[in-house]
Amino acid sequence: MIPQKGMIKVSTAFERVIHCYLAITCLLLIITGLGMMFHSLNFLAQPFGGLKSMKTAHTYLGVIFIPALFISALLWWKDAGIFDFPSDIEWLKKGGGYLWHVDNVPETGKYNPGQKLFFLTVVIFGLLMIISGFIMWFPEGYNKETVNWMYALHALGLLAILSFVIVHIYLGTIGVPGSAGAILTGYVPKSWCLKQCPKWLRQQEKEDKLEYFEGH
Ligand code: HEM
Repeated sequence: MIPQKGMIKVSTAFERVIHCYLAITCLLLIITGLGMMFHSLNFLAQPFGGLKSMKTAHTYLGVIFIPALFISALLWWKDAGIFDFPSDIEWLKKGGGYLWHVDNVPETGKYNPGQKLFFLTVVIFGLLMIISGFIMWFPEGYNKETVNWMYALHALGLLAILSFVIVHIYLGTIGVPGSAGAILTGYVPKSWCLKQCPKWLRQQEKEDKLEYFEGH
């Protein structure tokens, strides 16, 4: 985890702060949301002093989440929001080589198509959570059917975001060792880049843009 001389810089301090801001607000929203949704998880309300205050905390966390989502969408759109055709589609068809044995997995840029799908899920469903959340928070003026739909959409959004978050945390830690450094310290070994983002590495090398860790 501690950067070693010669490691390659793959994220800026600003990107790491924004990732941390988005991750913490999103995880707290998931925990407080699940605590409201399931009776068996109502105990999660204890640190908040009860269900009512946890609901209030959830709504204000929702407000704090809005800038995190918009800044993240702008920050990573170019690298994670646009698919490369046809190589990214080929990559998806082969499950990126993660699910079964595959020869010749297409090379990926800064982010692979799986990460791009996660990014787009967070952006699209995150927006849906904000819209549905505000309508549930201030239901006056909406008919009952619309408000009921918002509860259903909010639950659907939770399902989409939570499933990807679990995969994201697994791959970022145990699944692909060395990845956590990319977002904790900003540096990864060149061998990691060659495997995870070879197209990006070549491009940066060609443009002489690579930054290396100089040592402590
Ligand atoms: C990643 C984002 C979010 C997640 C994962 C999330 C998750 C949840 C979950 C699981 C519930 C329980 C639903 C139920 O009991 O049927 C809930 C309820 C609620 N959420 Fe969110 N939420 C998010 C964002 C937001 C935002 C941005 C707002 C608005 C500021 C918001 C406002 C609400 C409200 C008002 C409720 C309570 C509904 C009620 O029981 O009266 N949520 N949320």
